[in-house]
Amino acid sequence: MASITIDGIVKQFGGNTVLQNLSLHIPDGAFYTLLGPSGCGKTTLLRCIAGFYEPDGGRLLFDKDDVTRVSTHHRDIGMVFQDYALFPDKTAFDNVAYGLRARKVAKPDIRQRVGEALEKVGLAALADRYPAQMSGGQRQRVALARALVIRPRVLLMDEPLSNLDAKMRLQMRDVILDLVREAGITTVFVTHDQEEALAMSDRIAIMDRGRIAQLGTPEELYGTPVNAYVADFIGSANVLPVTLQSPPHCEPARAHYTLAGRVLDGMGEVDSASTEGTLIARPEDLSLMTPAPHVPNAVLGKVVRRQYLGFKTAYRIQLHDGPEIRVELHAGNTVADFQEGDAVQVLVPADCRIVAA
Ligand SMILES: Nc1ncnc2c1ncn2[C@@H]1O[C@H](COP(=O)(O)OP(=O)(O)O)[C@@H](O)[C@H]1O
Ligand SMILES: [Mg+2]
Repeated sequence: MASITIDGIVKQFGGNTVLQNLSLHIPDGAFYTLLGPSGCGKTTLLRCIAGFYEPDGGRLLFDKDDVTRVSTHHRDIGMVFQDYALFPDKTAFDNVAYGLRARKVAKPDIRQRVGEALEKVGLAALADRYPAQMSGGQRQRVALARALVIRPRVLLMDEPLSNLDAKMRLQMRDVILDLVREAGITTVFVTHDQEEALAMSDRIAIMDRGRIAQLGTPEELYGTPVNAYVADFIGSANVLPVTLQSPPHCEPARAHYTLAGRVLDGMGEVDSASTEGTLIARPEDLSLMTPAPHVPNAVLGKVVRRQYLGFKTAYRIQLHDGPEIRVELHAGNTVADFQEGDAVQVLVPADCRIVAA
């Protein structure tokens, strides 16, 4: 096991800089996820850690060892790919045994370790099957056993669940977490699926065009996104332009802003020189009421769409002289229900965040 230190990594393809001076420290035994849209550089970063790509700048350390120029074979990594990458002409047993044979492990030890590894992923009975005779979930379990059987220092997984159907994807989350926790292995997991990232990770690095937009625990990213990009990528959020009122000198973390003609209170660390800001408000943090006078932090609007979703009802509200805003009321804490065309008042909590425009 080892910590991973990515120190100012730069990677270019032709004139295109895909990783821009990217730094990240992953402590020994932690499960970190790289999350971001297609093309943001997740695979490129993983391949730099694996040694398939040589970076154009920066350093990579496993613990205190500088492995920047060390070949893949000598980095001691386990890797799992989206398309499994199993040898089609080898049985499950031989696929898992491959890395041990390459390392000249003694035959009886190979038999024992492969047996244990297949047991752990629940495939002991399928040791003699070929990949073509297995389901996607079973193949990915073989790939996982093959990566872990060599007891690597770090485990790298590139969208390992993307080719599985929805039910198997959920099951495999648990299989992976159980195995990596038991092995205590440092893991870098790549996904573009925000729910997967939230459910599995100790920390998530949200990537945006070759940089890390925010690193944090799932709770930090969901609760205090640093910008609209992160807020909209993790969960869903109303991201609305607002006008900032007199700069917040007295209370450092407070902001006053105008939305739909009303002055509201919010939370924010916005530069006092700017007059334009962005409100980040999660639909489930907002609530609705029948319009009434003297309600603080409320804006007026009209219901344009109501969608009943069982455990919640989603509304689109057209604000008076303002943008549209999405509100979700959960079954159970719904005080009242509203129909399309109803005039409503949207309550915007004073802890909603205002960030720079
Ligand atoms: N071998 C390569 N040669 C040229 N461009 C590449 C290569 N690999 C990736 N890229 C480019 O780098 C960017 C990031 O790709 P990638 O790391 O695969 O993104 P992600 O895994 O986040 O979808 C993309 O614009 C892609 O076209
Ligand atoms: Mg990729």
